[in-house]
Amino acid sequence: MAAQELNAIARSIVADHKGVLAADESTGTIKKRFDTIGVESNEENRRAYRNLLFTTAGFEEYVGGVILYDETIRQASDDGTPFAELLAAKGVVPGIKVDTGAHELAGQPGEKVTEGLDGLRARFEEYHGLGARFSKWRAVITIGDGIPTDACIHTNAHALARYAALSQEAGVVPIVEPEVLMDADNTIERCYEVTARTLHVVFYELYRQGVALEGMLLKPNMVVSGKGCPTQAPSSRIAELTVDCFLRHVPAAVPGIVFLSGGQSEVEATENLNAINRVGGPWPLSFSYGRALQASALKAWSGDTANVEAGQDAFLHRARMNALAVAGDWSAEMEQAVHA
Ligand code: 13P
Repeated sequence: MAAQELNAIARSIVADHKGVLAADESTGTIKKRFDTIGVESNEENRRAYRNLLFTTAGFEEYVGGVILYDETIRQASDDGTPFAELLAAKGVVPGIKVDTGAHELAGQPGEKVTEGLDGLRARFEEYHGLGARFSKWRAVITIGDGIPTDACIHTNAHALARYAALSQEAGVVPIVEPEVLMDADNTIERCYEVTARTLHVVFYELYRQGVALEGMLLKPNMVVSGKGCPTQAPSSRIAELTVDCFLRHVPAAVPGIVFLSGGQSEVEATENLNAINRVGGPWPLSFSYGRALQASALKAWSGDTANVEAGQDAFLHRARMNALAVAGDWSAEMEQAVHA
């Protein structure tokens, strides 16, 4: 598809301070989430939970795209409307996770490579037929003693670019996600260094493989302190280093950067996004959150149909807070007002 058409889709996803809801948890991951609320992960419960999210009145004001999982894009709402159709009717672009997960990288202990390229062209054709207009592929980069290696970064960047080229060929906007994990005990400066190295190689591979930068979105980690680091950098420092890192490594032709939350709490993810937008850059700086948009909603629902409205209220609140953060207009008091 022409880069112009891909660009129009990408821009519509992040227009008007909107972001992305990552509801593409694999069957294994959603089971982990359901375990925390004591709900059995069967196909109907997974459908009912996604139905709650996607039928939330007004969430389309804050969310321009939803990433679905393979099972979910084949499911329908309570009234029988296929989820992709329901979202499109609200003006929300349906997306699809197409990678098949991160697996141990041969020869590089402690590191992973994302798989899913085999047969991907045919899968894209099917997903396009099911209504998907954007896609996601997540690469995982781990910080540790002597890692990430160049081998890990290059292998993942190569796969990301191969995926992105196939996605564009199918008329589907790729969301390129190189996630530097925040689980280790590293400093924020070390996260900066690894994120910079990773982005540099990813954009080299995208260039080498002819991916149209104007027809993609980037889904990166923010530059943050590792979870186990004794000194946690404040949001002002996170914002300063994140924008600095991206200014140096992400071409301005990219129509949007949509951050993952990566294990930050809901309010942290909003506060940091707000601080990042106060600094600002040449791209829309938005969100593509999974946990940070869903944690409260999941808890409020807890698998009980009587709690659907409470779950939807919680989801709508987080979506709204994050759209305010994209505008740089969020403040902590706005959280209190709702929880009172
Ligand atoms: P989190 O925001 O929970 O990190 O999930 C986003 C995502 O889609 C990771 O691939």
